[in-house]
Amino acid sequence: MAVLGVPELALVALVGVSGSGKSTFARRHFAPSQVLSSDAFRAMVADDENDQSASADAFDALHYVAGKRLRAGRLTVVDATNLQPHARAALVRVAREHDVLPVAIVLDVPEALAWARTEARADRTFGKQVLARMSRDLRRTYAQLAREGFRKVHVLRGVDEIDAAQIRFERLF
Ligand code: CTP
Ligand code: MG
Repeated sequence: MAVLGVPELALVALVGVSGSGKSTFARRHFAPSQVLSSDAFRAMVADDENDQSASADAFDALHYVAGKRLRAGRLTVVDATNLQPHARAALVRVAREHDVLPVAIVLDVPEALAWARTEARADRTFGKQVLARMSRDLRRTYAQLAREGFRKVHVLRGVDEIDAAQIRFERLF
């Protein structure tokens, strides 16, 4: 069983394709108020959690709130795919600005499973090609993550590993 060490004050970036189980994982391991999700912020700024044209404003708002939380010493989890280097760089920047450690937790499930889950959801309407592109982005992410400034990169591969994972909060001092 994987025990993931996470500093008690950290900015935790979940990383994974749609359907990898990020929101489920966040619900299981963190309090709702600790989790900032890109869906919720799209809904806040554009009334539609799937409105990709609202992403820039949604992430501006998400980063702003993350900064406020980190300044107050509150652990913060970012529930978004975080598959693009610029998306992760923005999170590392916010963490550094507030002297908080950025940590990445990668959820990696077989693409067929992620697609089956996504296809079954009424609130996800994109096609298989979009998910295939996310999977390619995830493969690329592995080579990039190590040198992006994350203090720790935890990788959970497969449903069993994800289900069994525990988080151990580590005191900093
Ligand atoms: N799911 C499941 N069993 C798990 C994890 C997830 O059946 N162990 C289901 C969820 O109930 C949900 C779907 O798979 O219907 C996607 O899981 P979710 O946690 O929402 O995935 P995300 O990675 O958050 O997907 P997205 O990026 O689209 O928000
Ligand atoms: Mg989600």
